Amino acid sequence: MADDRPRFPLGRPARLAVFASGRGSNLAALMTAFPPGHGPASAAAEARVVLVVSDRREAGALALAREAGVVAVHLVFGRDRAGFEAAAQRELERHGADLIALAGFMRVLSPAFTAAWRGRLVNVHPSLLPSFPGLHAVRQALAAGVDRSGCTVHFVDAGVDTGPVIERRDVPVLPGDDEASLQARIQAVEHEAFPAALRAVLRGDAYPPGRPA
Ligand code: GRF
Repeated sequence: MADDRPRFPLGRPARLAVFASGRGSNLAALMTAFPPGHGPASAAAEARVVLVVSDRREAGALALAREAGVVAVHLVFGRDRAGFEAAAQRELERHGADLIALAGFMRVLSPAFTAAWRGRLVNVHPSLLPSFPGLHAVRQALAAGVDRSGCTVHFVDAGVDTGPVIERRDVPVLPGDDEASLQARIQAVEHEAFPAALRAVLRGDAYPPGRPA
């Protein structure tokens, strides 16, 4: 059930959960911005990463999290989205998560889950949305011949890459670019935009439309 009460600012460091399927470069950027642990760095930060969830046992993100001393959990997705989401919800509650960052999480979450986490579920996507949603966004941009692309950080709703935008950063598409070179240029701006967008959410400056005053 959706709950539209204002959530942020919390008045304490937020507990950030990260869902990731891949190598985890965005997770690394988030752990730099929102250091895990209980040291002075995390006490002063707006948030700290407390939980990493992956649908892929071999995801680099899980290894990165464990190296940093963050709880890292593999949960089977398979055909059983409801089972994954129920298990994820238990982990989120166990670790007191306030906010979820989807950092290269390659699964589509259910309308019930996205509604329950409305305003607290944020994704980074490697295109300037609404252009090129879905899979292979970088390849789509190259195929379309655009001269600029970039990344978008947005709240997640029931659609795929359709939720309210928090922040976009653009980069040029250069002659001779291939998918790898353009993706690397986009990821460099993702690593700045994602923490910046989450900070805006945590300050209470960014929220989905329709929130009651
Ligand atoms: C990022 O480019 C993100 O936009 C996309 O998946 C990629 C994940 O990369 N959704 P990483 O695992 O954070 O390095």
